[in-house]
Amino acid sequence: MKLPAIGQPGGAVILLVLSLSPVAALGQEPSREASNATLDRMIAAGKSQPELAKYLFNTHGCKNCHTVGRDGKLGFTAKGTERAQGFEGCTNMLTAMTVLVQVPEDKRSPQQRQKAERFEEFGCTACHKITPGKLDLTEIGMKLAHLHLGCVDVQKVLATSPLKSSAY
Ligand code: HEC
Ligand code: HEC
Repeated sequence: MKLPAIGQPGGAVILLVLSLSPVAALGQEPSREASNATLDRMIAAGKSQPELAKYLFNTHGCKNCHTVGRDGKLGFTAKGTERAQGFEGCTNMLTAMTVLVQVPEDKRSPQQRQKAERFEEFGCTACHKITPGKLDLTEIGMKLAHLHLGCVDVQKVLATSPLKSSAY
C-alpha cells in the first residue's frame, strides 16, 4: 500500500479551512446566505444591538461610503464622498425606489434604470427588494426590521455606541 500523501494532511487541513471560510480568507463580503446564517448565530449567542449593527455595517456595503461617525450621524469615507457624486444619499435613493416600483419596467426612464442599477450595486437589494408596485424587504431585511436594525437604527446605534473600533 502506498501512502504518498503522508506529508500532506496538514496541507489538506489548511485547504479545508480555506474552503470553509473563503469569505474570511479573501476579505470579501459574505453571501446573503452566509450573512443570514452568521446573523442567526449572533442573535442566538445573545449579541448586543451595537454588535449586530456593527456586523451589518461592516458586511453590507455601508462602510464603503460611511464612517461610523458620532453624535448620532454616520460620517463619510473619501470613497463614499466620491461615490456619492450624483447619488443623493440613502434616504433619497430609497424614496426614488418607492416611486420607481410604481413604474412598469418598460416605462422606466434611463435615469430610473440607472438608479435601480446603483441600488443593486451598492448592496441595498440584499435587504430591500424591488417588486412591481411595491418596495419590499427580503427575508433578511424583514428579520432586521423586526429586530429594529434597519438603516436608520444602524446609524443610531453605531453613531452613539462606544463600540466603535472593536472587531466585528
Ligand atoms: C454609495 C454610498 C453609500 C452606501 C453604500 C451607503 N450609504 Fe448611507 N448615505 C450615503 C449618502 C451619500 C448619504 C446622504 C447624506 C446626506 O443626505 O447628507 C447617506 C445617508 C444615510 C443615512 C441618513 C443620514 C441622515 O441622518 O440624514 C443613513 C441612516 C444611512 N445612510 C445609512 C446607511 C446604511 C446603514 C448603509 C449600509 C446598509 C448605507 N447607508 C450605505 C451613501 C451611502
Ligand atoms: C442589511 C440589510 C439592509 C441593507 C443592506 C440596506 N438596508 Fe435600508 N433598511 C433595512 C431595514 C431592515 C430597514 C427598515 C425597514 C422597515 O422598517 O420597514 C431599512 C430602512 C432604510 C431606510 C429608512 C426608511 C424609513 O422609512 O425609515 C432607508 C432610507 C434605507 N433603508 C435605504 C437604504 C439604501 C439606500 C441602501 C443601500 C445603500 C440600504 N438601505 C441597504 C435594511 C437594509
